[in-house]
Amino acid sequence: MLYSDKVLEHFANPHNVGEIENADGVGEVGNAKCGDIMKMYLKIDNGMITDAKFKTFGCGAAIATSSMATDMIKGKTVDEALKLSNQAVVEALDGLPASKIHCSVLAEQAVKAALSDYYTKQGVDPEPIVGKLSECEACHG
Ligand code: FES
Repeated sequence: MLYSDKVLEHFANPHNVGEIENADGVGEVGNAKCGDIMKMYLKIDNGMITDAKFKTFGCGAAIATSSMATDMIKGKTVDEALKLSNQAVVEALDGLPASKIHCSVLAEQAVKAALSDYYTKQGVDPEPIVGKLSECEACHG
């Protein structure tokens, strides 16, 4: 089987799909390789992520990874969410085929883009904290 049960589960029944009105951070990223787009919304209260939702025009792996990534950052602090790597999301999904790893990078970058927006709204320069957002590191290899 190409995809793990967890990937298929999150693809068939994705968690946290939608938008958040008055979100504290909104990020949109595109994947240079496939042209897929993802938008991430975060509600942040006192440095804690109280809600996360996403919308994507993307493939099944992008849907599954953003479903898992949003599950993983809910209830976490902004600092913990910044440390979320695409590898951690892939591991939580019991793996992805090599050709689909770049889709998990899209989910990680969408979280970071939303956090950048959050810092910008607070009047804080996000780049020293979040780093530069790359469209898709895995795609350039
Ligand atoms: Fe585009 Fe997966 S093929 S994100």
